[in-house]
Amino acid sequence: MDHFDYRDGLLHAENVPVTAIAEAVGTPVYIYSRATLERHAQVFKAALAKLPRTHIAFAIKANPNIAVLKVLAKQGFGADVVSGGEIARALAAGMKAEDIVFSGVGKTRAELHYGLDVGIGQFNLELEEEGAVLAEMAHGMGKTASAVLRVNPDVDAGTHAKISTGKSENKFGVPISEARAIFDRLSGQPGLNLRGIACHIGSQLFDLGPLEAAYRRIGDLVAELRAAGHSIDRVDLGGGLGVPYERAKVPPSPAEYGEMVERVTKDWDVTLMFEPGRVIVGNAGVLLTRVIWVKPGVVHPYVIVDAAMNDLARPAMYDAWHDFEAVAPTGEKMVANIAGPVCETGDTFAMNRSIDVVKAGDLGVFRTAGAYGATMASTYNSRALVPEVMVDGDKFAVVADRIAPEAIIAAERVPDWLQD
Ligand code: LLP
Repeated sequence: MDHFDYRDGLLHAENVPVTAIAEAVGTPVYIYSRATLERHAQVFKAALAKLPRTHIAFAIKANPNIAVLKVLAKQGFGADVVSGGEIARALAAGMKAEDIVFSGVGKTRAELHYGLDVGIGQFNLELEEEGAVLAEMAHGMGKTASAVLRVNPDVDAGTHAKISTGKSENKFGVPISEARAIFDRLSGQPGLNLRGIACHIGSQLFDLGPLEAAYRRIGDLVAELRAAGHSIDRVDLGGGLGVPYERAKVPPSPAEYGEMVERVTKDWDVTLMFEPGRVIVGNAGVLLTRVIWVKPGVVHPYVIVDAAMNDLARPAMYDAWHDFEAVAPTGEKMVANIAGPVCETGDTFAMNRSIDVVKAGDLGVFRTAGAYGATMASTYNSRALVPEVMVDGDKFAVVADRIAPEAIIAAERVPDWLQD
């Protein structure tokens, strides 16, 4: 459920007509609803309420806006981060270092050092050598790094190939068959407290089956490691729950996910860590855009909007679907293609789609744009970096400025030897 609804024929974000945001901030602009963020956080927490010990680390990559993080921090969420920059954001939003999980397949030594320095709660190791480097570094700093080993359970998550992470050929984790030997070699190293396992098999999952299969393999591994004398008190189950990009297609609910986790992990006796991203923020955001032209097409007209693939990359990158709705729909429908102004054929949001009738100057939104939206934006074609707004009841505020091309040009330099 979200808080983007029509009132008197006009789309509102909570109590704010989105037309007011277009007027004040211009378009394109991302709009987040605080109430929706809070609701999703609460639904996720409720789904895990029966589990004895849990920690939720929001996958910051899905939406790293500081105001968004602040809302989630107030809900008790920590952060799953994959870079030094994301650590800085989590801390800036008021999250405690001990509530931060540091994932990422290529943490640099500088990032590991930064993580140790601020006292990150958990490092998710991606390879044995990373554990050895971390142990030595921590020992040298007079610290002990708390860590788990990310395993690759070799399960097909059944999602888009580019967001699948749990097959043996993917770059993530160590083969589950090698986990025991790596534990034997890394455990007991000064500076390292290797205490558990992590896995994450992919994103936008619509089927709990692959998750359950992966978790069962993890359960077997936990038993095997304990039998070998290792003490295991944490398992990080990753993220991955899908969201309904097309309203008619409904993914498993957090409650169904929670029931599955409860069933599979009942004898594990560990703290379970979760790294949800999309399911928390996806439906809490829309991308507001204005129609520039309706251009006649050979088969269907092209609705050319002022948002483009640089603002919302998902359709171009993953052929992703985002529902499009007029802000003031007339009730009539038309079949059209929707595209942005960028000079690439891939800058297309939809083809042959039945949409609300719109004309030049009208406003529309791409729904479910709160996850992997603004954070994947670029300035390609020397377009501005898209701004972000948060709504809270009757009020709204800009939570990320539009960065104009002039500001980006100002950061570029022409060397002396090119000056005339
Ligand atoms: N944990 C780890 C280790 C991850 O790699 C990811 C996402 C998550 C948690 C959060 O997954 P979620 O709950 O959001 O599914 N840009 C792509 C998605 C990339 C996901 C990368 N990893 C998209 O727009 O679909």
